[in-house]
Amino acid sequence: MSKTIIISNRLPLQINIEDNNLEVTPSVGGLATGLKSFHKDGDSIWIGWSGLTLEEIPENLLEDVKAKARKEDCVAVNLTTEEIDGFYYGFSNRTIWPLFHYFMEYTEGNTADWETYKAVNRKYANEILKHYEEGDQIWVHDYQLLLVPNMIREVAPEAVIGFFNHIPFPSYEVFRTLPWRNEVLEGVLGADLIGFHTYDYERHFLSSVSRILRHQVNFNEITLQDRIVKVDSFPMGIDYTKFENAAKEHAKNTEEQSTELQRRLDDHLKETPDAKLILSIDRLDYTKGIANRIRAFEYFLDHHPEYIEKVRLVMLSVPSRSNVPQYQRLKREIDELVGRINGKFSTVSWTPIWYFYRSMPFKNLIDLYASCDIALLTPIRDGMNLVAKEFIATRAKQTGVLILSEMAGAAHEMNEALIINPNNFEQISSALIQAIKMPVEEQQQRNKVLQKRLKRYSVEKWANDFMETLQNTRTHRDSFK
Ligand code: UDP
Ligand code: G6P
Repeated sequence: MSKTIIISNRLPLQINIEDNNLEVTPSVGGLATGLKSFHKDGDSIWIGWSGLTLEEIPENLLEDVKAKARKEDCVAVNLTTEEIDGFYYGFSNRTIWPLFHYFMEYTEGNTADWETYKAVNRKYANEILKHYEEGDQIWVHDYQLLLVPNMIREVAPEAVIGFFNHIPFPSYEVFRTLPWRNEVLEGVLGADLIGFHTYDYERHFLSSVSRILRHQVNFNEITLQDRIVKVDSFPMGIDYTKFENAAKEHAKNTEEQSTELQRRLDDHLKETPDAKLILSIDRLDYTKGIANRIRAFEYFLDHHPEYIEKVRLVMLSVPSRSNVPQYQRLKREIDELVGRINGKFSTVSWTPIWYFYRSMPFKNLIDLYASCDIALLTPIRDGMNLVAKEFIATRAKQTGVLILSEMAGAAHEMNEALIINPNNFEQISSALIQAIKMPVEEQQQRNKVLQKRLKRYSVEKWANDFMETLQNTRTHRDSFK
């Protein structure tokens, strides 16, 4: 029977070593959390990196790492520290990530990193080919593996290959600055179907292909010498039922069953019953607009002191890519900002910002989603932003207000949220006031529509749509033989 081979840089599980024992935790990030349910329910294997470099795994545990991954239908690819430095911290996260998010001033162009990126993409392609049997479908994910589709195509010309880009694709004027732009486009074009979250990213990609490679582009099809490549947008959804059910369970919890975090949140409510909790959750990444958000919150308190002691920003920032200097600098900037603003506004019984720098287990995420009144998500650029969708799905009583940046892919599908420009503090401040004052009926009206849409376009539907379209490209191709 044929299977689907999923391939991404990071596996949905992260393996750690504690006292010579292996510990498995779920990976953070939209790709892993979203795709996990498709992988769990279908006949697929998932190839990717376990999060540990080869040097970090004692020899006697190497087989155990493989076995732990295998148990979850995953195949762990071993990468050395040098490979991770050049491929992951280097080309992926110092070149492609900033460039594709329009942070050109952060974009580096190191040739040695590019060489490592190519070598590691080849390593992933070879691992896929070890598991590939005719009839299988190969689904490659994200910007770390842009060259993999063509590397497979060269060896297995008949293979059915899909590629999905989870981050924005920048406009031609930005993309053209990449020294290796031709190689990158040719790499992706090894796929039969290329998917993006939004139509804008799709359009940018098609325009780069036609201007840089001069291929013929008709609507959303690219004509190569021997094949046609289809490009389309598939906005990724969430496992709606999982969040809906978790919210229902959360609502039933007695005081004894609730977590310590929930008890703290409840205490806040008891002490200040009319105060509002404003939530933000993201990886600590400069694309997420975290520093701007804190500054906008300061602007709001400066201009509307009547809300002092009436609001609190609960900010969960998950450590991410901490070997990259930009992320280290951002961490220091946020520490300073939080310290300064808490110092400036705190009263004897109130601190404006609760800041958590860690990842949280699922149960705690639900506590936050369910207990906060407003979600304030202000990315400067974001491929999708699943947190916005998870917040809405977790609102059992359909109350709560989502304030969302227009720069997030999710904003295209979430018009009923309060959509803001993350650089406009005045607008963010007004949106906060609108959210605080919004009547319950209006909150429910907006969230009802959002919930219905999120339920219909779940991650399952997203994956099935992509897979069906991929399958059709094969049928189409066969009919031309
Ligand atoms: N998340 C998590 N643990 C945490 C915080 C967040 O697993 O402590 C998850 C969150 O539920 C969401 C994902 O990380 O599914 C973040 O995805 P998003 O698309 O918002 O942003 P990304 O990190 O992919 O840029
Ligand atoms: C984004 C990217 C993913 C990545 C995730 C977490 O969602 O699109 O490819 O896995 O961030 O980042 P990390 O570098 O920890 O894998």
